[in-house]
Amino acid sequence: MTKTSPVPSAACTDPAGEWFQRQNGTLCADGVPLSRIAGAMGTPFYAYSAAALQANYAALTQAVAPYGVKVCLAVKANSNTHVLAEFARLGCGMDIVSGGEMTRALAAGTPPERIIFSGVGKTEAEIRAALEAGLHQINVESPAELEVVAKAARDLGVRAPVALRVNPDVDARTHAKITTGRKDSKFGIAASEVPELYAAASARPELRMVGLALHIGSQILDLTPFREAWAAMAILVRDLRAAGLSVTRLDLGGGLGVGDAHHPGPDLAEYARIIGETVGGMDLDLNVEPGRWLCAQAGVLVTQVLYIKPGEAADFAVVDAAMNDLMRPALYEAVHPVVPLHERRGAHERPYRLVGPICESSDDFGKYPQLGTLLPGDHLAFLQAGAYGAAMSSTYNSRDLVPEVLIDAGQFRVIRRRADVQDALRLEAATEWQKA
Ligand code: LLP
Repeated sequence: MTKTSPVPSAACTDPAGEWFQRQNGTLCADGVPLSRIAGAMGTPFYAYSAAALQANYAALTQAVAPYGVKVCLAVKANSNTHVLAEFARLGCGMDIVSGGEMTRALAAGTPPERIIFSGVGKTEAEIRAALEAGLHQINVESPAELEVVAKAARDLGVRAPVALRVNPDVDARTHAKITTGRKDSKFGIAASEVPELYAAASARPELRMVGLALHIGSQILDLTPFREAWAAMAILVRDLRAAGLSVTRLDLGGGLGVGDAHHPGPDLAEYARIIGETVGGMDLDLNVEPGRWLCAQAGVLVTQVLYIKPGEAADFAVVDAAMNDLMRPALYEAVHPVVPLHERRGAHERPYRLVGPICESSDDFGKYPQLGTLLPGDHLAFLQAGAYGAAMSSTYNSRDLVPEVLIDAGQFRVIRRRADVQDALRLEAATEWQKA
């Protein structure tokens, strides 16, 4: 008989944690043992549960539906076209920040009228491509960018659908490197400057001013900053309308955090209620653009222990995944819960420090006291790795680009193959010298 028990990890404090379960002592997703995938393709690799992606989308859309809020996935969190296609098929919109992400969103089958183009540094070519493709909205972040959008629209003979991204000067109370809504940040336009710019832009025939947007930061667990920021937006919308301007859309940004053993995840119903209380009933088309919440819990990074090496305060377990595969610990001191693929072997008196092979001290995933006794060859899974994992990976130290696997209905398939150094060398084939 198959024994199923939830993984005793931080991820399980949140409903999506249930997607990686033990069956007969082995970590599985949707009935597929992750060790089978490791056997078939080697490590490290990312694996995503299609059922988890779908369930996350369903939970969020249902929570915000009473307030008429549409959900757009922030493509930057997980830009694999097969993952995007899962969401596109369900009716999800996409929030993009580059021409590359636009190409991916469209390739995944997202209709252009469900795509919003955010980002502080869009190039003229990207803006033109967005207008040609007929995207739903361009979120503009500066007067200078507005000029480029206007010029591109004039050249193409179209009216550009524009929202202004507001900087509400709200501290999202998250890691400094993923805080975006304070007035000293590079993002958005100060609320005090918005009315004049919005009014001037509304008078231009090449622009169709549709509303406002904001995004205050990422991995937000305390919902208070959302309330502050959205309440400020409601005031701004009322002011613009009082001045006779048309405001029909409000993009509420992403940022919804994912909980762990120490911090409970946000309550979706409360999140939705705050939307209703701050900007509900204002006859606005509302959307949110979460990335992490939709993808993080749906993915794991599987790695293998290479060496055990006694250290000062902890024993090092050198694993074959590194900071190039999962950058978040090195960049934001993020701690991903880790579980062994097979039942742990019994207590080990000292914690393990999981480190990768890269020649930098920052290639360190942190200290883990509860992994049991590890031996070379053991497999481990970093949980909550479905967002900003593969999407931020690189080939630093000339390592392979980490592959990705999608698990669905008891089967798995590779959705990005392992790109190796031969692929890299092909990109480096030199051209002829050119005379200056
Ligand atoms: N919308 C905009 C305009 C954004 O800049 C972002 C994320 C999102 C939506 C989605 O935010 P989310 O719902 O995923 O929090 N690499 C970092 C996260 C950077 C987020 C940047 N912007 C990490 O690994 O924690």
